[in-house]
Amino acid sequence: MFRFRALACAPLRNLLFPAYALIGICSTVTAQSAKPVEIQIKADQVSTHVSPALYGLMTEEINHAYDGGLYAELIQNRNFKQDLKQPLHWQLVEGHGGVGSMTLDPSVPFNSSTPVSLKLTIQSSVPGQRVGIANDGFWGIPVTPTTSYHASFYAKASPGFSGPIKLSIESNDTSKVASSAEVSHLSQSWQKYDLTLTTAQTAESASNHFVLSANHSGIIWFGMISLMPPTYNDRPNGNRPDIMHLLADLKPGFLRFPGGNYLEGNTIATRFDWKQTLGDISQRPGHADDAWNYWSSDGMGLLEFLEWCEDLHMQPLLAVYAGYSLKGEKAAAGPDLAPYVKDALDEIEYVTGDVSTPWGSQRVKDGHAAPFSLEYVEIGNEDNFDREPGGYDRRFAQFFEAIKAKYPQLKLIATAPAATRQADVIDEHYYRSSADEMAFHANDYDSRRRSSQKVFVGEWATRVGSPTPNMDAALADAAWLVGIERNSDLVVMSSYAPLFVNVNDGAMQWRTNLIGYDALSSYGSPTYYVQKMFSAHHGDIVLPLTASNIPTSEWQPPAVGQRVPMVQSVPQMFFDATRDSGTGLVYLKVVNRGGTPQSVHVVVTGVSSIDSRGQAITLVADDPSATNSIAEPTKILPGVSAVDGVGADFTKPFPPYSVTVLEIQAH
Ligand code: AHR
Repeated sequence: MFRFRALACAPLRNLLFPAYALIGICSTVTAQSAKPVEIQIKADQVSTHVSPALYGLMTEEINHAYDGGLYAELIQNRNFKQDLKQPLHWQLVEGHGGVGSMTLDPSVPFNSSTPVSLKLTIQSSVPGQRVGIANDGFWGIPVTPTTSYHASFYAKASPGFSGPIKLSIESNDTSKVASSAEVSHLSQSWQKYDLTLTTAQTAESASNHFVLSANHSGIIWFGMISLMPPTYNDRPNGNRPDIMHLLADLKPGFLRFPGGNYLEGNTIATRFDWKQTLGDISQRPGHADDAWNYWSSDGMGLLEFLEWCEDLHMQPLLAVYAGYSLKGEKAAAGPDLAPYVKDALDEIEYVTGDVSTPWGSQRVKDGHAAPFSLEYVEIGNEDNFDREPGGYDRRFAQFFEAIKAKYPQLKLIATAPAATRQADVIDEHYYRSSADEMAFHANDYDSRRRSSQKVFVGEWATRVGSPTPNMDAALADAAWLVGIERNSDLVVMSSYAPLFVNVNDGAMQWRTNLIGYDALSSYGSPTYYVQKMFSAHHGDIVLPLTASNIPTSEWQPPAVGQRVPMVQSVPQMFFDATRDSGTGLVYLKVVNRGGTPQSVHVVVTGVSSIDSRGQAITLVADDPSATNSIAEPTKILPGVSAVDGVGADFTKPFPPYSVTVLEIQAH
């Protein structure tokens, strides 16, 4: 038998926080009971409105989110800058007796942003032999049947060497060539070569590498080398279609970019310096993503972030560098900060300006004539780490004054409390280390003072399951989202973090992430499906809902220092109801974290009739440890079923370990 909590509403609290009363979150008394859970929904009343951009995405270069992830480039270390002493991810190829050497050559710099070239010396190679360079990609180069790849490279040859040079995608295991193409003649000055490689009907495989080789002696210096597979919407320099489709299915309202810690860098020099991420990829220097310890090509630059938003119809939520980096290096408010404030103004102009503005015209030159719409700008990331008393407050004020003066319509998001200027929204982050901890906090916003600042929950997650959350986490995450949706008068936006993980060994820095992939395929975690269900199935109005007899479990929070915390009671079930004011459809969300089915008695008031047949979208697992993975990507998927016998008063069982959206047509 379950332990239940009988709810007894607290009138004083309800007087102080009227919305609290509407959503029926009441003081609780623990009791043993076998009574069904009771739900009452007032379908003719409005508790609040669902924020239109409640469900969004947060992203940064972590876990090979872009390089080796969403950004489709297949060549790792394409401009050789990952390590200026050795050409990481490049190997010398000496085939059938060919002899040569490969080295980084600082004496022949490729261009002003790449101070080296990759020098291939072919000492001896005759027809039948070959000498070349091979790239191992991001944990392999994916080969799929009848696929065209756009290869491009810059090269110059020594006098006497004129080619040809062969490009090929080859199996690591059998050396079989999946596709090849040839450049017949190389110039002695830097030149770009573009080719298409197309595979035949071949088996899918990630165990391949990319080779450029020749069979005449001489020297070739290579500049940037790129291999792009087909991209979403055929964008040049674009994104992987499979991952974009997963994201599109989430129907995200916004994209928060470019971080996260990645925005700040460990030092000012390694921040996301957006001006270095524009234009032709061969001119982009790239930078050390020292926040997450790997190299970023910056192929995913500012314009690519914006086009990603455009492709998925999301609004950009632009985070600007606020003069504070992770290791404490900072620009103090005042003259030191001024260049960064100017950078932010320029960045906003690049996003929103027309061709008559300097940075708007730069965007037009970069290939995007139309300005992007922008509503939110976030100043920094997690600036509560700035320990200088009033440090962020002063920096925020300087950004606030400058941005509001030029762009009064923009809403500014603070990342830590700022006292002297009223931010429009504050970004709060919640990472919970257990499902019980997340569930314990799931109703936190119910008791937040309604007059307080609007909230963006810009990062949140139950960190259980790796590399992606398991069902235990997904149930707690669903409980959290129920609380967010119910409180979306206060919480205007939310985004899980991190969004992406390349699941190969060595690619991951953060243990629990929403979407996993390798070079060939991608999958959504159970929490991904929770988000998909929530974001695609809700109304525009939150309905007043009261719940009683909610079963609870006990949770022992981890001891901090010497303090032994009290055992806490955690609800096992969570509910909210929204209604589409146009169609009358009511969406009842029910989370059952418990291991037994729960009968719920639902009473809907304030409508004339309810269709007896409804629809349930249910995510359920036999075991909370169950999960999806690259090997079993669809083990846990939501199912859709018709539900008969619904009405103004009905009882329905909800399975153990389940998240349900019950759609009821009210009239
Ligand atoms: O999501 C991972 C990191 O967590 C983010 O970069 C940072 O903002 C937070 O501390």
